[in-house]
Amino acid sequence: MIATQTRVLAPETLGTLQLRPVQGDGDQTVKNQIEASAAAAGDGVLSSHPSTAPEPEATDLARAYATFLQDYPAYKATSALDDLRASDYARLDGAETYVDYMGGSLFPEGLLQDHMRLLLESGNLFGNAHSRSESSRRSSELAYRAREAVLQFVDADKDDYAVIFTPNATGALKLVGESFPFGEASSLLLPMDAHNSVHGIRVFAETNGTSVKYYGCGPRGGVNMESLQVIHTPCPSCSTSLLVITGQSNVTAAKAPLQDILPMAREAGLYTLLDAAALVPTTKISLRKTPVDACAISFYKICGYPTGLGALIVKRSFSRNVMRRVWFAGGTVTAVQVPGTGPTSYHFWEDGTINYLGLPAVQMGLEVVTRYRDVLPQRLTILTHALSSGIARATHPNGAPLAHVVSTLPDLEEPGASGSVVACIFLNASGTPIRNDVVERSARQSRIALRTGCMCNPGARNLHLGLNKEVGDLLFDGDSSFGLIRISLGLVSNFEDVWKVLSWVINEVPKLSNVAN
Ligand SMILES: Cc1ncc(COP(=O)(O)O)c(C=O)c1O
Repeated sequence: MIATQTRVLAPETLGTLQLRPVQGDGDQTVKNQIEASAAAAGDGVLSSHPSTAPEPEATDLARAYATFLQDYPAYKATSALDDLRASDYARLDGAETYVDYMGGSLFPEGLLQDHMRLLLESGNLFGNAHSRSESSRRSSELAYRAREAVLQFVDADKDDYAVIFTPNATGALKLVGESFPFGEASSLLLPMDAHNSVHGIRVFAETNGTSVKYYGCGPRGGVNMESLQVIHTPCPSCSTSLLVITGQSNVTAAKAPLQDILPMAREAGLYTLLDAAALVPTTKISLRKTPVDACAISFYKICGYPTGLGALIVKRSFSRNVMRRVWFAGGTVTAVQVPGTGPTSYHFWEDGTINYLGLPAVQMGLEVVTRYRDVLPQRLTILTHALSSGIARATHPNGAPLAHVVSTLPDLEEPGASGSVVACIFLNASGTPIRNDVVERSARQSRIALRTGCMCNPGARNLHLGLNKEVGDLLFDGDSSFGLIRISLGLVSNFEDVWKVLSWVINEVPKLSNVAN
């Protein structure tokens, strides 16, 4: 191992250097700031790096927080989320620094307590929601309320939309894939910046001879509208075609401009399926205003609990007139077992017994998150901005950048315009990428829970790594030695989380230059 000098920043330097907002042209400004931070190296403490990172002192944190508040005064107005963290997340004290919200949110303690209280309440029995007994009706009633809560959460009119419960968002997307009437004269339009559960739909299309077309993303992911325009051309001779949209990328943080895409899709006669798994946990959506035909979500991503439950929120006209079921094994009292003769509502699309004990927690969880959805975009925009610009500015002792940030830098003027994800590649002092497993091991040692690899989104990963391959060739590309590092914030992320991650980046990542790749 070659000994090297690593700059260990003095606490006050961490406060000012790492957390000042980047304004204007992100890349150019970041470049300038990298230079500025290199020039400021004299202010920091230059030393041979110690074998372990210095433990951050509480006073360092307080000082950095004061600087942060000066730079981002609007953060103060989001303190309701600090109260939530204090009341419902005591278990985070002393735990890992959790920055994998895109992987799964963390449940509030009160949600579990309320759920348990309901299930354990004297005289409250919950039977399978398939008969007319008191216990069965109780389950049915609560399942009904959960459906209503889901509709409310996405602002959908219950006359227009139904909620079909699925095991997760993937199950919801698959349900559309397997029941969409793909034929030789139809098309499937898929986004390049998409999760594998979206890419998977193409298998159903290809099996039926349907042409699959990909639309591209911008330099920082999301939707390239020109590319979409090229492939969406109205086609009078085409039969039923489907456009799938990634609401928010789980890697690039880019959000799709639904208000621009939907009129275009309508004009071209395309049905629309929105993957909202990464979008709805932190973003209010309105299916009244952006009426996609179907929308897939997962509840553990929204409120952390229960796992194993998602939903397809589907236009009744779409499920009735377009989707086709080849198999049915519904478990409700009102459904019959012959495909094509059953009811046209959710009953027909849910396989077997629904998760009737878990569903009351869905309603409770959505209520909790709803209470904070107005302040969440402001808070997450600020935290993500501080984190992203802090990482972008961090340098090696020789002045070389420590990381290449590839996700969207949030716009402080437009809270919530992009997601709370920072995706980056860490670089060694000579500018080559550091392997994922090396970074991940270091993060684990510093007790930081993040995600590395391709995040099930090969299009976004390869866009950013500059690999010139077709998305299709990469779907099952198992090489995760090099990929992206994803740090994602969520419901109860706070300044301390960001500060701990930045401390790790500044003090520990430079040492990884010496670890053999
Ligand atoms: C954008 C996006 N779509 C779909 C999924 C799949 O969600 P689930 O694991 O709930 O099926 C994920 C999961 O991370 C995601 O981020």
